[in-house]
Amino acid sequence: MRLPNNSLSALIAFYHSELNSNYEESEIDAIVDLVLEHYLNYSKTDIIVKRNENINQSDLLKLYFCCKELKNNTPIQYVLKEAWFYNLKFYVNQHVLIPRPETEELVDVILKENKEALSFLDIGTGSGCIPIAIKKNIDKSNVYACDISSEALIVAKKNAELNKTPVTFLEVDILNTKEVEERITSSFDVIISNPPYIKFDEKDQLSKNVTDNEPHLALFVNGADDILFYKKIIDLCQQKLNSGGKLYFELNPLTANDVLLYANNSQLFKHVELVKDMSGKMRFLRAQKN
Ligand SMILES: C[S@@+](CC[C@H](N)C(=O)[O-])C[C@H]1O[C@@H](n2cnc3c(N)ncnc32)[C@H](O)[C@@H]1O
Repeated sequence: MRLPNNSLSALIAFYHSELNSNYEESEIDAIVDLVLEHYLNYSKTDIIVKRNENINQSDLLKLYFCCKELKNNTPIQYVLKEAWFYNLKFYVNQHVLIPRPETEELVDVILKENKEALSFLDIGTGSGCIPIAIKKNIDKSNVYACDISSEALIVAKKNAELNKTPVTFLEVDILNTKEVEERITSSFDVIISNPPYIKFDEKDQLSKNVTDNEPHLALFVNGADDILFYKKIIDLCQQKLNSGGKLYFELNPLTANDVLLYANNSQLFKHVELVKDMSGKMRFLRAQKN
């Protein structure tokens, strides 16, 4: 690493010069804040007042390798192995999707509408961000979560421990009826899912740092039926969602109406509606069982 000196300001200038073809200036500022908080425990004020102080060689080396990974388009959350979700810190690695702000919106809606609910099931849990945020906020609830990926479940269990939130995790392929019957033995007041929902023909519209780094098992829906996961989960509500219970989905705006139609045609629900996210896209479905 070529720096004029070992000061914090020289390091910050280095980050800007190395990353300016990957990120906007304001994004680099945000990245620098996160990186310095992570490696040096610096607050935003520290970053201002300690500009002329020197950084020791061992920390400089860590900060250099971090910058190298960022330059290779690895998302900051995977470099630091952490992501924030609903004011909680989560461990993340490349076996799990980085939790998204839209999913925080969904959790917010669920928590506001289900203060009295007793049992929750999250399908396709990834890092465990949804069930852990729910359990943290509704202490008396019984929270279950499942995923097909054993690697993702290792991460989710680690996060439940880090956040001191007992959640029951199950390894289940939700598309495999026999496995579902054998492994999901109870029924629930609330079922939630943010399943894989990106169509393969949308792949080129995603940024390269998503397609190169995040698990394809979490992103893409395979095969001819784009809403396969939603259909399977709606069908499952017949047995696994209690009467009067609620179903919440995060949706792909491109197929939101197809999911709405399937839910209405199932005749399992008394209310089914689509809900927009903060950017105005049809992003969520909310349904209440008869
Ligand atoms: C879009 S990610 C959502 C992760 C997490 N819930 C979140 O919101 O950040 C979809 C998740 O579904 C899981 N998944 C994919 N196919 C599955 C299947 N057949 N059965 C169960 N889970 C599956 C993936 O491993 C992934 O963790």
